[in-house]
Amino acid sequence: MARHLITSAIPYINGIKHLGNLVGSQLPADLFARYQRARGNEVLFLCATDEHGTPAELAAAKAGKPVAEYCAEMHEIQAEIAKGFRLSFDHFGRSSSPQNHRLTQHFAGVLAERGLIREVSETQMYSPTDGRFLPDRYIEGTCPNCGFEDARGDQCDNCTKQLDPVDLINPRSVISGATDLEMRETKHLYLCQSQMKDELEAWIDSKTDWPVLTTSIAKKWLNDGDGLQDRGITRDLDWGIPVKKGTEDWPGMEGKVFYVWFDAPIEYIACAQEWVEAGKGADWERWWRTDKGAEDVTYTQFMGKDNVPFHTLSFPATILGSGEPWKLVDYIKSFNYLNYDGGQFSTSRGRGVFMDQALEILPADYWRWWLLSHAPESSDSEFTWENFQASVNKDLADVLGNFASRVTKFCRSKFGEAVPEGGAYGDLETKLITALTEKVREYETHMSANEVRKAATALRAAWVLGNEYLQEAAPWSTFKTDPEAAAMQIRLALNLIRLYAVISAPFIPDASAQLLTALAADGEAWPDDVAAALETLPAGHGFVVPEVTFRKITDAEREDWQARFAGRRD
Ligand code: MF3
Ligand code: ZN
Repeated sequence: MARHLITSAIPYINGIKHLGNLVGSQLPADLFARYQRARGNEVLFLCATDEHGTPAELAAAKAGKPVAEYCAEMHEIQAEIAKGFRLSFDHFGRSSSPQNHRLTQHFAGVLAERGLIREVSETQMYSPTDGRFLPDRYIEGTCPNCGFEDARGDQCDNCTKQLDPVDLINPRSVISGATDLEMRETKHLYLCQSQMKDELEAWIDSKTDWPVLTTSIAKKWLNDGDGLQDRGITRDLDWGIPVKKGTEDWPGMEGKVFYVWFDAPIEYIACAQEWVEAGKGADWERWWRTDKGAEDVTYTQFMGKDNVPFHTLSFPATILGSGEPWKLVDYIKSFNYLNYDGGQFSTSRGRGVFMDQALEILPADYWRWWLLSHAPESSDSEFTWENFQASVNKDLADVLGNFASRVTKFCRSKFGEAVPEGGAYGDLETKLITALTEKVREYETHMSANEVRKAATALRAAWVLGNEYLQEAAPWSTFKTDPEAAAMQIRLALNLIRLYAVISAPFIPDASAQLLTALAADGEAWPDDVAAALETLPAGHGFVVPEVTFRKITDAEREDWQARFAGRRD
C-alpha cells in the first residue's frame, strides 16, 4: 500500500471562492485523493484557510468585524461549502492555529541560527493620512513589469510577477486612496533564498516529470534578472504570527508579524498536527518527518500558477534551510486560469460564479464534472454557459445517466428488479470487455499522472462503450427472439453500471453513491480485472431503478443563469 500526502493550496479567508479558484487547487486535489483511496492506498489529504495578512484584515474591516471573529466565521462558511462540493479533506485546518504559530516561529528560529535570516533596515511606505505603514496589499499602483494599473504591492495579477510595494509606479493607499505616501525607516527580516539558489535549482532540475508549467515558472524566478532574490518575511501588521525566534522574543521585531506567505505553507505541516489534535489521526510525523517514516510518502501539491514561485522556491527554501528532516514535495501540479464568459473570474470585482452560488443552482457533481473535464492544464480555459449546458446534457445525462436508466428500467419491465441469469457471453461481450479493459487502464494511467482532462476523456470514453454496446446488442429486440441472450446482456449491463459507479466516483461521488445504492452494491473493489468486475452482481441480486441521476439543463435555465451571473456579485 502506497502512502500519499496531498495538499491543496490553502484558500484565503477573505470571502467565498469562485469556480476558478476551485478548479485550480481544491478540486483536482480531491480527485487525486479520492482516486488514491479507491486504489487502496493510504491518503492524508489536507487543506486549510489562509487567514493572515492584509487580505484578511481588509475583508474584516469591510465586514465591520474584529479580524479573529471574521476569520472564525469565514472558516466555518468555507468548510461548509467544501463539504457541499464533497471535498474529502481529512482535515480542513486554519493557518491561525496555535500549531502554526509554534511551527512558524520554530522555522524562523532555526533559519536564523543557520545564518539564513538577515535583518534589513529599510524604508517603507508610510501613509500620514492613514497614520500607519502600508504593507504590500494596502498599496496598489502600476506594475513596473507589464504596466497593469491595478497591480498589488505583493504581486501583479496580470503578469504574476512578485513585487515589492516600492516597485509600483504611482502607488496609492488602498485604505484611503491617499497618494501622499512617504518613505520611513523600519526593520525587517529577510530569508536568504539567494544563498540557496544552487541547491534549489539542482532540486528543480531533478524533477524531470513535473508539469512544464511548474518548472518553467520556477526556472524563470531562479534565473530572470538578478536571479533568486532574498524575500522579506515580516510585516508591520497587528494580525498574524508574532515574530519570534522559536519561543524567544526577537529584539527589534516587537509588534511585527510574519509575512503571510511565510506562514501559510508551513500550515501544510501544522494542519497535520491539527488533524491529530482533532482526534482524527494518531501520528503526523510519519507523514512529515523523513526520520519518522515519511521517506516512503509520496507528497503531491496542487495549486494555481500564481502560487508556483512560493511552492517551488520560498517554501522549499524554508524546509531545506532548516536542515531538519522534513518531507519535501515530490510532485507539484499547477494550473492555468479558468476564465469566465469572455473575461476573468474576479473576487475583488465579484465577477463569475462563486462556490455557494453554484451549489444553489445545481448539485456538486454537475460542477465537478464540467470543471475537471475542462481543467486549465495546458492553457487557460473558459467557462461559458453554453459549454456547461452541452457537457452536462451530453456526457452526464445522455451518456451515463441514460445508460443507467435504460438498463434498469428495461430489466424491471422484462425480468423484474433482480439481476437476470441468462446464458454465456458472445462476441459482442468479449469485444466490449477488451475495449473496456483498455479504457480503464488508460484512465488509471492518467489518474496516477494527474492528467485531469485526459482522465476525464478516458472515463467518458468508457461510458460511451457501454452505450455502443447497448445499441449493438439491442436487448429490447433480442428479447423477442432470444430472452436468454437478452437476460445475459442485461446482467452484463447492470454490472457495467456498478463498474461505472466505482471508477467515476472520484469525479462524481454523489451520483456514484446513488447508483451503488440503487444496485445494493458497495464501491469497494476497483476493477483490476474488468471481466471479473462484471460478474460482481450475481443472478438474483436485487436492485431498484435509480432516481434520475442527471437531469438536463434547459435553454431557459441557461439563459436565466447567464443573465443572473452577468453582473457583479453584491
Ligand atoms: N492563499 C493563497 C492563494 O489563494 C494560497 C496559499 S497556499 C500556501 O493564492 F502555500 F500558502 F499554503
Ligand atoms: Zn504586471
